[in-house]
Amino acid sequence: MTIQTVQTRPFTDQKPGTSGLRKKVPVFQQANYTENFIQSIFQVAGSLNNGLLILGGDGRYFSIETIQIILKMAAANGVNKVLVGQNGLLSTPAVSHLIRKYKADGGIILSASHNPGGPNGDFGIKFNISNGGPAPTSFTDAVFEVSKSLTEYRITDDQNITLDKPCTVQFGDMTVEVIDSVCDYADLMQELFDFDKIKSLFTSGRLTMCFDAMHAVTGPYAKEIFSRRLSANVGSVINGEPKTDFGGGHPDPNLAHAKELVTILNSGANAPGFGAASDGDGDRNMIIGQHFFVNPSDSLAIMTANAHLIPGYKLGACGVARSLPTSRAVDKVAETLGIECYETPTGWKYFGNLLDDKRITLCGEESFGSGSDHIREKDGIWAVLFWLNLIAVKQQSVEQITREHWRQFGRHYYTRHDYEGIDTDAAEALVADLRKNSTNLAGQSFGEYKVTFCDDFSYTDPVDHSVTEQQGIRVIFDDDSRIVFRLSGTGTEGATLRVYIERYITNPEQHDLDTQQALSPLIEIARDVAQIKTRCGRDDPDVIT
Ligand code: G1P
Ligand code: ZN
Repeated sequence: MTIQTVQTRPFTDQKPGTSGLRKKVPVFQQANYTENFIQSIFQVAGSLNNGLLILGGDGRYFSIETIQIILKMAAANGVNKVLVGQNGLLSTPAVSHLIRKYKADGGIILSASHNPGGPNGDFGIKFNISNGGPAPTSFTDAVFEVSKSLTEYRITDDQNITLDKPCTVQFGDMTVEVIDSVCDYADLMQELFDFDKIKSLFTSGRLTMCFDAMHAVTGPYAKEIFSRRLSANVGSVINGEPKTDFGGGHPDPNLAHAKELVTILNSGANAPGFGAASDGDGDRNMIIGQHFFVNPSDSLAIMTANAHLIPGYKLGACGVARSLPTSRAVDKVAETLGIECYETPTGWKYFGNLLDDKRITLCGEESFGSGSDHIREKDGIWAVLFWLNLIAVKQQSVEQITREHWRQFGRHYYTRHDYEGIDTDAAEALVADLRKNSTNLAGQSFGEYKVTFCDDFSYTDPVDHSVTEQQGIRVIFDDDSRIVFRLSGTGTEGATLRVYIERYITNPEQHDLDTQQALSPLIEIARDVAQIKTRCGRDDPDVIT
């Protein structure tokens, strides 16, 4: 093995977003582009020198090539050992767990989460630190700074290695171990949940399930956990073979993209009683029953209210956190339980300090993400097991559990409207003007709705006191309804405006309304206030969740 120092020129666009650096595959394929970003990471992550690195991803197009590059660069940058998932596969939650379990100094996750893959799809590189969570902004800012002036990177001339079975290879002083992608993670799940109880749901025939892995990373995890360890029914895992282009689909577990699953759940008398899906890298989840969708914000609230019923959370949640745009359903539960509820900016990284400081046990986002202190990422399969365990304990269906929750805590009707690929300048101006007008908006009336409060959300981390500003415009009305406007930080083309709308109704007689109808006056107000049509030229959102 010899180490080569390769001359390069800096790129100016390697600024990580909400979840690492995400670009189209051809951008990463440019000469030296990937190498430059990896070198910038190694330069900032000093502890990797002589340290342990976890490496894997969701198996999307360009992953294997990138893994080979990273291994050689790791060896050239003094890494002591790399654990890499078999076939390059490791779900995001599995990486987080492996970092913690083996006390690694960091992990590199190759994924663009729920974005489509393939030669013209998206690719991404994300660094997680030694607590298992996404690197904080101070780290990603430093990586960006290095990338802007990088003139050389280090790489060895080692051969590519085969990743298709567990093995150990030496790159000079560095050891590469190809590990089983699934078993450590599956063992952790078995510690947290009552596998015997869940298994008896299936073996007694009381429940059948369908999990849609969407041809992404969770296929092997789902087969091991649901089919093998829990003896779930034949057909319990669909689309379980990971593919580099996710079978041409959009691996995003929501009603729009997991259509096959929804059709199966709504297929009549023999339909499974429980349905779930996860995204490209396995950190998101969608939970559904027959003809019944569980809103992710409600899911977090239900988990919090019932945590004490799950073996891994016997003492209940010590506190809970949700991102700003997530509905305030969990706030009601926290109030009743007398525990703290934190409101954080969008993105999992803001939960890390709260979890490390033991201020919270559970946390979640409206974007189909929930998780707990077991790792430092959101966790799709974990959420599915949480629900299965609840069903097993309560002996109720998904719908019964949710309706009972609404009766006790009230229902938060909730929707998110996304306007995708809009002109970046127009989108930024829209938000800037809302920000400017926020003080004037308070006190104004729109039909029956009166604005009581409006600001641009700013967050002071209670642990390290860092301040994160301009995280979204919140407009709160006198009946506790709320609209939030923000721009996506994960898109790869133009800008995406996200509008989050919510209305709280306690009366159970009104818990059966159609969500879009229940929210329609507020949807109109949101369009008016932000002048979406005139500014973005759009009549309707591209995606409604
Ligand atoms: C989106 C979601 C956010 C999530 C992130 C990464 O970010 O809204 O909740 O943490 O993906 O999965 P956004 O595109 O809105 O910045
Ligand atoms: Zn994801």
